[in-house]
Formats: sequence, C-alpha cells, structure tokens
Amino acid sequence: MSDPREAGDRAVMTEIVLPGVVEPAGLQVRQQPVPAPGPGQVLLVMEASGVSFAEQQMRRGKYYDQPPYPFTPGYDVVGTVAAVGTGGDTSLVGRRFAVLTKTGGWASHLLVPAAELVEVPAGVDAAEAETLVVNGITAMQMLHRVAHVKAGQTVLVLGANGGVGSTLVQLARRAGARVIGTASARHQETVRELGAIPIDYRTPDLTAEVRAIAPDGVDAVFDHIGGEGIVASFGLLAPGGTLVSYGTASTRDAEGSSKLPVLKLIARLQLWNALPNGKSAHFFNIWAGRRRAEAFQARLAADLTEVLGLLAEGEIRPQVAARLPLSKAADAMSLAESSTVTGKVVLIPDVTRDGHGGSDIKHG
Ligand SMILES: NC(=O)c1ccc[n+]([C@@H]2O[C@H](COP(=O)([O-])OP(=O)(O)OC[C@H]3O[C@@H](n4cnc5c(N)ncnc54)[C@H](OP(=O)(O)O)[C@@H]3O)[C@@H](O)[C@H]2O)c1
Repeated sequence: MSDPREAGDRAVMTEIVLPGVVEPAGLQVRQQPVPAPGPGQVLLVMEASGVSFAEQQMRRGKYYDQPPYPFTPGYDVVGTVAAVGTGGDTSLVGRRFAVLTKTGGWASHLLVPAAELVEVPAGVDAAEAETLVVNGITAMQMLHRVAHVKAGQTVLVLGANGGVGSTLVQLARRAGARVIGTASARHQETVRELGAIPIDYRTPDLTAEVRAIAPDGVDAVFDHIGGEGIVASFGLLAPGGTLVSYGTASTRDAEGSSKLPVLKLIARLQLWNALPNGKSAHFFNIWAGRRRAEAFQARLAADLTEVLGLLAEGEIRPQVAARLPLSKAADAMSLAESSTVTGKVVLIPDVTRDGHGGSDIKHG
C-alpha cells in the first residue's frame, strides 16, 4: 500500500470531533492533514470503527475517565498500516490490525503505537472483526479470567442482544454453559438464536423468572446496568457464584458526577466480597493493569487473537447492526442509541472514487 501522505488529494484525513455535551447531531466533521507516525507509531487507515455504549456516555459527559472536550471518540478500530515511524518494522505496512484505542478511532487515519496492534486473520471482514474488539476482549476476559465459567454451569447475561452481551452469550455457550439472557421484548428471538434462554428485562419480577429456570441460582451474573438492580443480580447467585459487574448503564442519563455511580458500585461490591456469604463480586475494567504495559498488552492480544480466530473459523457470529460512513457518525450514534438494533453500529470509510463505502442498516 502506498503512503497516503504522498498520495495527492488523499493527504487530507477526516475525523469526528465531540465538542462538548451535545446531542448526536452536535458531532462535528473536521478535515486535517494526515499526520506522520513518530518513533514506535504506525499510521493506520481506518476500515471500521465501532459505536460503543462508552460514546453514549461520553457525549453526556458521563464516561468515568473521558478526556476533556473537544476530542475524537472511537473506542476501537480495524485498519491497515500505511506507514511506520522511523526505525519501525516496515513489514507491518499493508497488513490489517485491530486496536483498542478508547478514543480517537472515529478518523479516516490515526496514529497508534505499533506495540498495540493485534493482527486480524486473513479473509475476515473489517466491520465484522471490529464488532469483536472491545466487545470480544471484555466478554472473553470476564468469562474466563474473572468468572472462570465451565461446562455445565448456568450464567445470566443482562442485555444479551447488546455488543458485549451477544458476545458473552456465544462464548459462554461455546464453553458449555447454559445461558439465560435478558433483553427487551423485540430482541427475544435474536437472543434465542444466539443460544440463550431469553427473558424480557422489563418483566415485573426478573428474579422469579430466573429462579423458575435456575431454582438454586446461577453460577455467574454479568451485569452492566448497576444501580439498585445489582442487589437482585447478587441475590441470584448460587453458593460459590460470581457477580461480574462491568458498567452503570442505569445512570447514563442521571444528573451529577460521572465517577460517583461507579465508585458507589465498587464500594458495594467490595463490601459483599468481604462478607462471609460464599459468593464473590467483582468490578471488571478492561483497562485494569495497564500500568504494567507489557503484561497488559500480552493478555489483551492473546484474548483478542482467540476471539478473532473463532470469528475466522465461523465459531462465533459477528453482530453488525449497521455500517455507516464516517461522516455520518451523528446518524450512527442516534441509531446506536435507538434501541432498535441488534449488535454493533460500525463506521466505515466514506464512499471513495472506486465506489467503496455507503450505508447498510439492519434493524433488529
Ligand atoms: N468495564 C469495562 O471494561 C467495559 C468494557 C466494555 C463495555 N462496558 C460496558 O458494557 C455495557 C454494554 O456496552 P455495549 O457497547 O455492548 O452496549 P450496547 O451494544 O448498547 O448494549 C447495551 C445493552 O443493554 C441493554 N439494556 C439497556 N437497559 C437494560 C436493562 N435495564 N436491563 C438489561 N439490559 C438493558 C440494551 O438493550 P436494548 O437494546 O433493548 O436497549 C442492550 O442490549 C456498557 O455499559 C459499557 O459501558 C464495560
């Protein structure tokens, strides 16, 4: 692949800017010169970047440790290396990689550390791979590094049609577990097709419905909702069971501090863990351990490589809800927040002169 910085009119890149607390329509499209990679960096040409729940929180100023505005959102990206920094490994050029970025992914070109690249298997579609970057790492690590889910166990996945939820269901089924999955009424069939027993999360008595399926309780609960419902999640555990809490979606629209709901939740989980109740409670944070960069990256790469391998082998089904061009990020965000889709809304490059790009939306 040629270096786009030398390619005439392609020397300009497009990026999406979140300027402050705005509605999706307030996202800005900005053009900039394509940057040059520094030592240890590569220039990645974006092929797919996802819309995650994190961006819904970031546009409300509600993500736990978001950068100050303005910034370019984009939690993860799949792209092809176009150039490497001085002294870098030139064999990376032309190869396709996935990167967990937290922010910055919603750009046609971006600089990333070469050490953070995870190769995407040949023949895998970029948007399909993209749906499994943050979602796949999160699901894999919670299942196998935190809850240690085994064959024959029963687990409860809240939001089983969502990005992380649909991945959790599939990986838990592969591990031989029975899965109960909550979702709104319109997504029950999708959850069943993924291999879980669906329950409507708006049911008046969720606990009774789960108990009807698992009278002795479940071996693990994966809860991204937080709030008062976390008490019911912990109560549904069988002796020896594990609660994995990994978000506070219930407070997305609440006024006040973005940190307080998370800190309150963690304090509660720590208290439950300290009490002699025969169960355990954890808060999962995908960035935990990042200060030990090498070990962190090795774990992340191993888990993501495994998930992408399963995708390449057809062992898990990617859930691409929609593909929209980067410049339509505002529409993509509105769609992701509409509760009408299954899986992940993915941004792809804008239509190019050779005809690539365009929209493709699949409502759930
Ligand atoms: N801690 C970490 O390191 C980490 C990493 C990645 C993600 N996360 C968290 O994981 C969560 C999911 O992210 P995502 O990108 O997968 O989001 P997503 O695709 O938007 O999915 C969210 C899911 O939650 C469901 N939901 C909403 N309200 C619910 C309720 N009251 N009870 C049960 N389900 C409910 C939604 O159902 P409908 O479609 O019916 O609305 C949807 O299935 C977010 O809270 C995110 O912050 C945490």
